[in-house]
Amino acid sequence: MSSVRIETIKPHIGGIVHVTKQHLLDNETVQTVQQALEDRNVLVFPQLHLTDSEQVAFTDKLGKRGSYTQKAPGNDASAKDVYTVTLDKKVNRQPEYVLGTFFWHIDGVTIDQPLPKATLLTARRLAPSGGQTEFSSTYAAYESLPDAEKRAIESLKVLHRMESSMQPVFEHLSAEDLVRWRAMSTPMVHPLVWTHASGRKSLVIGTHADHVIGQPIAHGRSLLIRLQEWAAQPAFSYRHEWSEGDLVIWDNWGVMHRVVPYDESSGRRMHRTTIMGEERMAGSAPFEQRLAS
Ligand SMILES: [Fe+2]
Repeated sequence: MSSVRIETIKPHIGGIVHVTKQHLLDNETVQTVQQALEDRNVLVFPQLHLTDSEQVAFTDKLGKRGSYTQKAPGNDASAKDVYTVTLDKKVNRQPEYVLGTFFWHIDGVTIDQPLPKATLLTARRLAPSGGQTEFSSTYAAYESLPDAEKRAIESLKVLHRMESSMQPVFEHLSAEDLVRWRAMSTPMVHPLVWTHASGRKSLVIGTHADHVIGQPIAHGRSLLIRLQEWAAQPAFSYRHEWSEGDLVIWDNWGVMHRVVPYDESSGRRMHRTTIMGEERMAGSAPFEQRLAS
């Protein structure tokens, strides 16, 4: 009998992985999980209670481990490449960066490197209220668009920048804040519709998406917000109610996510590892570089 089984959560998104810690690193488990990540996009491993080193070992089995937030505040967990996601000022003295996670985003969009392939998150401490993570499949959102709309957006390019994803966090961004966010990131131009090497397509959207290149600002922003709303509809999304020790992995190439607000004083802590991407999006480049070429 197989030691790993995937249970579907919703038709377009989500799977529960039934496996014990003892069988987690088995080749059969790794292959099943890699395939399920493609098919289900978000995978929940209920109450697996991985230590940092166990999470790192599993990350290494699934792909090329890395970190895209070496420059981000809070990068001080016990194991290398484990980032603590928390608003707790004892761990992270600049929690504004983590407040950005209250809004829909894709991880690592404003870094000049291939987009991280997948993110792994273990719940170490929960908030008494809030703190659920919501996921939306931008593969399903794209696939379900009417054909005319697919054609209309097919060749559009979008400027993504970190200060746009920080805009909702502040009443206004100070000059020092702008300098800080710009030092941590690279403004990137990405295609709105990402055609993967496999031929599959997904939308590249989130609050970091600032405007559509070559369109009047209001028109482009309206389109981006409409697509975000479309993708966030219940059919394409899943809200995870965390239990302590849950591990969730998502396919960052076709999933945007956000967290339901929780209190800074709650002590909520998530330990994150990242599988790096190997394939750059076709047509993706730093903003300045595009202007120069
Ligand atoms: Fe994130």
